[in-house]
Amino acid sequence: MDTDPKRRSRTHLDAWDKDYASRGHLWGGAVVDMPVLPEGSLVLELGSGDGKTLSTLPGDCRAVAIDVSAQALLLACRVRADSAFIQADAACLPLRECCFDAIFAFHVTGHLLADGRRALACEAARVLKPGGRIFFRDFSEQDMRAGQGAEVEPGTFRRGSGILTHYFNEDEVADLFRSHQIELAGIGTHCWKMRIKGKDHLRAEVHAAFFKI
Ligand SMILES: C[S@@+](CC[C@H](N)C(=O)[O-])C[C@H]1O[C@@H](n2cnc3c(N)ncnc32)[C@H](O)[C@@H]1O
Repeated sequence: MDTDPKRRSRTHLDAWDKDYASRGHLWGGAVVDMPVLPEGSLVLELGSGDGKTLSTLPGDCRAVAIDVSAQALLLACRVRADSAFIQADAACLPLRECCFDAIFAFHVTGHLLADGRRALACEAARVLKPGGRIFFRDFSEQDMRAGQGAEVEPGTFRRGSGILTHYFNEDEVADLFRSHQIELAGIGTHCWKMRIKGKDHLRAEVHAAFFKI
């Protein structure tokens, strides 16, 4: 196994581009329980992918979409062309501090290694306005896929495509984002069944919301 963390992370980032280039739109299913945002909110989406979450934002919001994959951004552009699209690492945002009313981090934080996850949380806190909110979703350690693949760090697995996925518990998510400026507004685990070849499998996501003092 490659033990250099920077190279491992780079290989993982390249894997996203390859996946989008070969398979196109990747994320099916509906986005459930979207929060209500104040009219005219400036929203940042981290790891916007092919635009599934962007497509659900109200028309009066202005959105900035960040993704490490140029291929993903090309797909997301078609979904919501009036957004700003930036190819960047969510752990190192090329953005000014205190500018966003809301930040969505849906199924992105878990694709970073531990150092990257901490950096993403700090960056989200930095660019959020006081009074603004962070919305987090990622797979839980109860999810059917947790434990599949090679474990590269505790709770983080690399599957065949080269993509890394970390599986969270609620305490870990609360600790990751909470800081002297950021407080937890609510957290829970959302579970549902997925039927594959006649058998039910558990899907489980941690959903959390934070606000900046
Ligand atoms: C599972 S997809 C989720 C897409 C979207 N948020 C959704 O829920 O449909 C993860 C996305 O995060 C992006 N990504 C992974 N690591 C990233 C990083 N360090 N910075 C920015 N984007 C990243 C990938 O390119 C991919 O588009």
